[in-house]
Amino acid sequence: MALVEWSPDYSVQVQEFDLHHQKLIGYINELNDSMRQGKGKAQLPEILRKLVDYTGYHFEREEELMEAHHFQGLAAHKEEHRIFVEKIRSFQRDFSLGRVALSLEILHFLRDWLLHHILETDKEYGPFLKEKGVS
Ligand SMILES: [Fe+2]
Ligand SMILES: [Fe+2]
Repeated sequence: MALVEWSPDYSVQVQEFDLHHQKLIGYINELNDSMRQGKGKAQLPEILRKLVDYTGYHFEREEELMEAHHFQGLAAHKEEHRIFVEKIRSFQRDFSLGRVALSLEILHFLRDWLLHHILETDKEYGPFLKEKGVS
């Protein structure tokens, strides 16, 4: 069973980004599934690597579009992205050094951060970009 189900409540009114968010939620569910099968520790590095790659691409696209339309909240939004990437990198480091015992801690952080960021921060650009004709 999926840990997180995407629902229309998560829509940020930009189709491209809804698709990106679905893909990111997919990685979180993948991690949850591997943990339930007892393979969390073995598969965490690979899943985190995919997640870091894809968030890099996704954050860049969001920032590009906000910048192109002179969105006021760009700086604060970028800062949230930056802190997230840093946090994941430190998880990767700690995990590779054997300092993080529980993949569960990482899983819950990813889930909570992503849902909060989509619902509170990404949603702020929705109506603004829509008004600019982005769909
Ligand atoms: Fe974002
Ligand atoms: Fe996003």
